Amino acid sequence: MSGEYVPGLEGVPATRSNISFVDGKNGILEYRGIPIEQLAESSTFLETAFLLIFAHLPIKDELLAFEAEILSHRRVKYRIRDMIKSFPEGGRPMVALQACIAALGLFYPISRDMSKEEYAYNSTIRLLSKVPTMVATFHQMRLGNDPIPPRDDLGHAGNFLYMLTGREPDPRAARIFDVCLMLHAEHTVNASTFSALVTASTLADPYTVITSAAGTLSGPLHGGANEEVIRMLKDIGTIERVRPYIEERLARKERIMGVGHRVYKVKDPRAKILQNLAQELFDRFGHSRLYDIALEVERVCDELLGHRGIYPNVDFYSGLVYEKLGIPSDLFTPVFAISRVAGWLAHWHEQLTDNRIFRPSQVYTGTRQVEYTPLSLRS
Ligand code: ACO
Repeated sequence: MSGEYVPGLEGVPATRSNISFVDGKNGILEYRGIPIEQLAESSTFLETAFLLIFAHLPIKDELLAFEAEILSHRRVKYRIRDMIKSFPEGGRPMVALQACIAALGLFYPISRDMSKEEYAYNSTIRLLSKVPTMVATFHQMRLGNDPIPPRDDLGHAGNFLYMLTGREPDPRAARIFDVCLMLHAEHTVNASTFSALVTASTLADPYTVITSAAGTLSGPLHGGANEEVIRMLKDIGTIERVRPYIEERLARKERIMGVGHRVYKVKDPRAKILQNLAQELFDRFGHSRLYDIALEVERVCDELLGHRGIYPNVDFYSGLVYEKLGIPSDLFTPVFAISRVAGWLAHWHEQLTDNRIFRPSQVYTGTRQVEYTPLSLRS
């Protein structure tokens, strides 16, 4: 084994996994071997979550039972709601979500009469179904409203939009949001998934595992780029300003948000799907000036950065879609978590099948054998 230090562990395999596959050169993403395009066309978020977590597409009865379980656990305890009510209204939504997920674990510990498998299944259901409710509850409460209870006649995506906005979404808008959840559900060993793996390897409970992952997702280098894209498009303001804006930014060695990816050196396959969804949303529900600006940004970036393998990533169009669906921009990262919880849980299950606690080494760069100086002699 070489002792070579690789910053950010770039290219260092941290695990063996059969959950998702990425080919960055050819723009391929597969969940359990199924191309993301096929899932986006034909699957649903809950079916995809099942696929990721249980490693096969469910048969009809399995899917119906899984959906029914998720639906029946959407509500959160009054004590969680009371806790959310005590959060500062201006608090960061990802921090609120992280606290909620950790608190959830206090209410659902493993009990003596429960097998480990039963506990794992119950926790999986609770996390998938309650994370959306907790995000919507925080949003309603920071506005000074009572939380909007979930509606059993609405699907997973539609119900979240309803709890968040108080309006029943158009079925096509709900479907588009469901596809967005599928696209963000899993992406190999990214930072938050790695964080989940490390915590899982200590045999911490699943709520703690997902709390760790959510904390890691909250950083601006991971979640949050789509919020920056919207800010950038608003800053640009008009199509005519696109080229000078990009050129000025590049001349100052600043990054263009929503383009470039550590793995993809072609257009991210999820960005292609999201662009089509954005187009459909704006065609159906009204035009967006920001979308026109985004198309021009992509065109200019292709011209100026394409030869370096820098193309739109998943965040380039997702913010536009979310904004059109009525999701406030500071909830984009919590929405990412609503989706990615499926991938985190899949990796938690997988880690436990062949667990070894993570304990990497370090390259020590400090001094050695230094004599202790008493306080009175220090200057
Ligand atoms: N705009 C301008 N230049 C860029 C961009 C960009 N968005 N991305 C990379 N580059 C340039 C860098 O300046 C660097 O140039 P240099 O060699 O002259 O210094 C070169 O490309 C390589 O950059 P790295 O940071 O080493 O590439 P890396 O693969 O680590 O970057 C990253 C990936 C962090 C996503 C980067 O492309 C970026 O900052 N993009 C903008 C932020 C963004 O959209 N993040 C969301 C990513 S998707 C996700 O996390 C879900």
